[in-house]
Amino acid sequence: MVRLRAEVSRRLAAVTEDSDFEAEVLLETVFGRDYRIREISGKIKPTEEELSRLEGLLKRRLSGEPLQYIVGEWEFYGLNLKVRKGVLIPRQDTEALVEAALSLIDGVKGPRVMDLCSGTGCVALAIKSQRKDAEVWAAELYPEAFEILCENLSGSGVSAVNADVLSAEAAKKFSGLDLITANPPYLTEKDMENLQREVRAEPKTALYGGIDGLDFYRALPKIWRGSLKGGGHIAMEIGLGQESDVSELLKEAGFKSIGFKTDLTGRVRAVFAEK
Ligand SMILES: C[S@@+](CC[C@H](N)C(=O)[O-])C[C@H]1O[C@@H](n2cnc3c(N)ncnc32)[C@H](O)[C@@H]1O
Repeated sequence: MVRLRAEVSRRLAAVTEDSDFEAEVLLETVFGRDYRIREISGKIKPTEEELSRLEGLLKRRLSGEPLQYIVGEWEFYGLNLKVRKGVLIPRQDTEALVEAALSLIDGVKGPRVMDLCSGTGCVALAIKSQRKDAEVWAAELYPEAFEILCENLSGSGVSAVNADVLSAEAAKKFSGLDLITANPPYLTEKDMENLQREVRAEPKTALYGGIDGLDFYRALPKIWRGSLKGGGHIAMEIGLGQESDVSELLKEAGFKSIGFKTDLTGRVRAVFAEK
């Protein structure tokens, strides 16, 4: 098994700098999470079937498919979420948005929260996991992503909404919200030209935010402001360096008390504001 792991890692080095980690994940996927323990006690001997499954997964990864799609699930904020082609893979960066969101509803009893552009539902589910008393909705437009959203939300108490969040009609159906969260598509036209191979496998509709990346920040605060309670908040993840543009757009839409949430390296990852 040690030799097998080394061989998988060696082949993966052609497509990733994290080849040891990725080899470990692929072996866990085929042999089970506890395979290292069984390995120590000598209770593991790969069958032909397992080896051929491993080879299949390895070939997919070598062809540029993201590891997360191959494994079929990924961890976010301590939650295991289903991921596959058609949905954005949750990024650790987005935990900054969750942290900001939780602070904004701290002290609000039974908060009503809408997560726009929900994808896997990672933000909505993370909030609900920390605030059982919250009523949470998760809105997503695209069919493949919406199907995965529904699977992830199943049994969570979060409600799925199949809607175009850029439509005023969708926003009018919601009122009295304490918090709106969004991690919208925010890459610029230029960013889209320079995507890593793995990111190109993710849906363009989850990534592209218009020529300057700001289309959703121009629209969402205006369209959804009316759905918030007075004193309610909007919190949005942003791309690197977008904080001053997004702050201006929030002010133009009538929001006040603009604040920022940084990540561990001090970069602003989320912007929030009060109605
Ligand atoms: C950047 S991804 C964020 C996904 C997830 N919230 C996360 O943080 O990983 C943006 C999501 O917005 C969805 N989306 C794009 N345009 C939309 C629209 N007009 N209405 C609703 N959802 C939309 C995409 O399908 C994608 O799932």
